[in-house]
Amino acid sequence: MPRPHSHVLLVLADATLRRGLLKGLTAAAKSLDNPYGIAFSGVGSAAEALEIARGDGDLQSVLIDGLGGEGWRADELVSALHALRPELDLYVLVDSARDEETVGELIREAIDGFFIRDEADPRGWFRIIQAEIQEKSRTPFFDALREYVLMAKDAWHTPGHSSGDSLRASPWAAGFHEFVGENLLRADLSVSVDMLDSLLDPKGVIAQAQDMAARAFGAQRTFFATNGTSTANKVIFQTLLAPGDKLLLDRNCHKSVHHGVVLSGARPVYLNSSVNRTYGLFGPVPKKTLFEAIEAHPDAKALILTSCTYDGLRYDLPPIIAAAHAKGIKVIIDEAWYAHARFHPALRPTAMEAGADYATQSTHKVLSALSQASMIHVNDPDFDAHLFRENFNMHASTSPQYGIIASLDVGRQQAMMEGYKLLQRTLELAEELREAIDATNAFQALTLTDLLPAEVHGDGIRLDPTKITVDISKSGFTVAEFQQVLFERFNIQVEKSTFNTVTLLLTIGTTRSKVSRLHDALLRLAREARAPRKLVRAPEIAGFTELHYLPRDAFYCEGELLPLIDDDEHANPALDGRICADQITPYPPGIPALVPGQVITREIVQFLLSLMRSHKRTDLHGVVHDGYTPCLRVMTRADEAANRRL
Ligand SMILES: Cc1ncc(COP(=O)(O)O)c(C=O)c1O
Repeated sequence: MPRPHSHVLLVLADATLRRGLLKGLTAAAKSLDNPYGIAFSGVGSAAEALEIARGDGDLQSVLIDGLGGEGWRADELVSALHALRPELDLYVLVDSARDEETVGELIREAIDGFFIRDEADPRGWFRIIQAEIQEKSRTPFFDALREYVLMAKDAWHTPGHSSGDSLRASPWAAGFHEFVGENLLRADLSVSVDMLDSLLDPKGVIAQAQDMAARAFGAQRTFFATNGTSTANKVIFQTLLAPGDKLLLDRNCHKSVHHGVVLSGARPVYLNSSVNRTYGLFGPVPKKTLFEAIEAHPDAKALILTSCTYDGLRYDLPPIIAAAHAKGIKVIIDEAWYAHARFHPALRPTAMEAGADYATQSTHKVLSALSQASMIHVNDPDFDAHLFRENFNMHASTSPQYGIIASLDVGRQQAMMEGYKLLQRTLELAEELREAIDATNAFQALTLTDLLPAEVHGDGIRLDPTKITVDISKSGFTVAEFQQVLFERFNIQVEKSTFNTVTLLLTIGTTRSKVSRLHDALLRLAREARAPRKLVRAPEIAGFTELHYLPRDAFYCEGELLPLIDDDEHANPALDGRICADQITPYPPGIPALVPGQVITREIVQFLLSLMRSHKRTDLHGVVHDGYTPCLRVMTRADEAANRRL
């Protein structure tokens, strides 16, 4: 296993004192056990310290002279370092207890400890610095899981494969054992194992791991979810919203949010997202629309937005959250695509930092956690822990996958210890890749300006550069051909596509060799010089029509199926004005064209038909096939009469 390097920086203007302390600390590092590879260096000014903090991804701790130096103050340096990299351990050197008082209250929270300069005790200081690094890098759940597996207890409990014993010697199924590996099966355990705590009532190692995650992500409380952000969103909805409660939501939200509306019985106020018509992409809700909705619906219980979006667009959250809070509206931010943001200043502020009450993150999408591993972060001052727990347990399996929980623990640890370094590399690779794509002259990496719909210019929207949307129209390939050729000839699988674009997702696992293989593939394809094709006009999703019934009432109605097409294969006029009972979601992009309770119009039916007839494969979730006939489930006239109209 590679051994870690941990750099510790001493910021001290007095060169003689600095040299002396560094000598003592380095000697301590050499003579004592040093499993984290701690090494010391020193600088004399805040400017140099900040430069090192920006450039050195292995930096873990900084010792700052409380007296400051020429042109810099210790408290200012502490604040600047904390703002840049909140995961760093910061210590202040003081002369006596009196000096300690000079450290302002504001920065006290950012400081991990004090050392008394005139009581220089390099071995003692080394031990303290090391203990803090050890604490940060602990993985309480993963350690307990590994320890339990090593204890090789006989399993008289679920799961049925019994540590892989049912598979290992099977002439039929041993291949699975061999493929997934022994440890995965041995670590697949059940809640019967007390020492591994319970996800549904954490008091031991899971509680510790969650607390460490809360500190790492800047939340008051953090909960691990092993059923993805899809479930995390529903848990929050059911906690915050009672049937009939008003909710402001971006229509562009993930389908789990719309499912949460049905489950909670909330009354949604849909906010229209901006649309980039050139590329058929959905953008954020305009700030003006948001502020107007907050003003018009001060009785709303919650507002939910997605930031950043699948394409990497993120809101200027602080003023939006402040406006919602001024009316007492709770703010939930779906950060499914943004769990990495906390660990690089170029990506911050995160939702928690911007003041959101709740944030849900798919740790698995961008950090090193297994699929379905998500976190719920809470900063709500009115958080009802009991209600939350009831709702969490309503959705969570009583047999959670322990490998997923361990991966959340390790994902947090890695992000804390080397997230900055890895993200710095990812951002550099993203920049290089963007330039390389543009240099092909056949492919174009879309910039923030290209992506932003006109309605949100000036709204302070920013782009997460690790998500690269590439316009491929000039290459002459259709998206389907392009994806096929990348896959078959070049062994490359991309994240998603639209009618004219493909999206590449860079993560902390993206390597330079992957980037060069992709670049090489693009260069070769560009040389094939097909005639450029026009941008395909994607069928335009129809504007939101009226909601006549609560989504929950519509969803649970008896319903009847009506065909999408009439006998002449045209949009069925019988659907016009009827009320949809299901959520109809073209995927990709996964934004519902209809939600339960919404009035169906001819334009919407035509939109769905044009998607079905298009050569670009789009799944239509919610459309039912009666034999070969695609149908929508609608409320019957009796359902309409029996339910309360909004
Ligand atoms: C915005 C958004 N929220 C939530 C989810 C669901 O996340 P998960 O796959 O972790 O369930 C997704 C998934 O793509 C998403 O795009």
